[in-house]
Amino acid sequence: MRIDIFTLFPGMFTAYLDESILKRAQAMGQLTVHLHHIRDYASGKHRITDEPPFGGGGGMVLKPEPIFTAVESLLATLPHEGAERERPPLILMTPQGRPFTQTIAQELAQHAHLLLLCGRYEGVDERVRTHLVSDEISIGDYVLTGGELAALVIVDAVTRLLPGVLGAEGAAASDSYATGLLEGPHYTKPADFRGWQVPDVLRSGHAAHIARWRREAALRRTWQRRPDLLLTAPLTEADKWFLRQLAQETALSE
Ligand code: ADE
Repeated sequence: MRIDIFTLFPGMFTAYLDESILKRAQAMGQLTVHLHHIRDYASGKHRITDEPPFGGGGGMVLKPEPIFTAVESLLATLPHEGAERERPPLILMTPQGRPFTQTIAQELAQHAHLLLLCGRYEGVDERVRTHLVSDEISIGDYVLTGGELAALVIVDAVTRLLPGVLGAEGAAASDSYATGLLEGPHYTKPADFRGWQVPDVLRSGHAAHIARWRREAALRRTWQRRPDLLLTAPLTEADKWFLRQLAQETALSE
């Protein structure tokens, strides 16, 4: 996958991209990231990228020209990608966007190429939104100082879904949210830490028992922390039976 990021602060990305899984994905050739400094596309001696809003009010708004120029210069370099319908999606990072989820990460991971645009200050000129951007994503109901962290969140969540990027085969498939449930607890050595024991079943070597224990632990955790997810998660008859038991136990203990 290729990801092009348009930002006023390209330096914010390098440390995160140069470590761990994202570094490995790039070394493997599964991920290529190009950073574009919006300021490089601003005209005039001072290369101004933002101005106060028309009509007054506080804050600064990113000007449309440098953003259009930056994005269009890139699109012009892409083979066969000039036509509207073949364009890679251009996603604006904004708290007004659709809320980012694992499902959206999976959807984005299907693309060969993504363009991410990071807003700053009060936002971007509305004409960028209406005439250039094809999607808008928010990473949560809070306001950051800019879209850079949000873009990194997307790069991270999408990259780990690309084929071969995660070491353990299938690790992404059992993630919290990929199954529609939260994952249950994990344990590693030592089996006894300060007298706190790892559940026997996990050390039993009995694959079917371990799988059932993990499924029930995931159901229990989801029930306790995010019961809303149970409304949409794909559940088997055994899962539903287990949840009914949980509901009865809870009712009895109240
Ligand atoms: N820019 C500022 N806040 C943001 C958020 N919550 N999500 C995405 N981009 C943002």
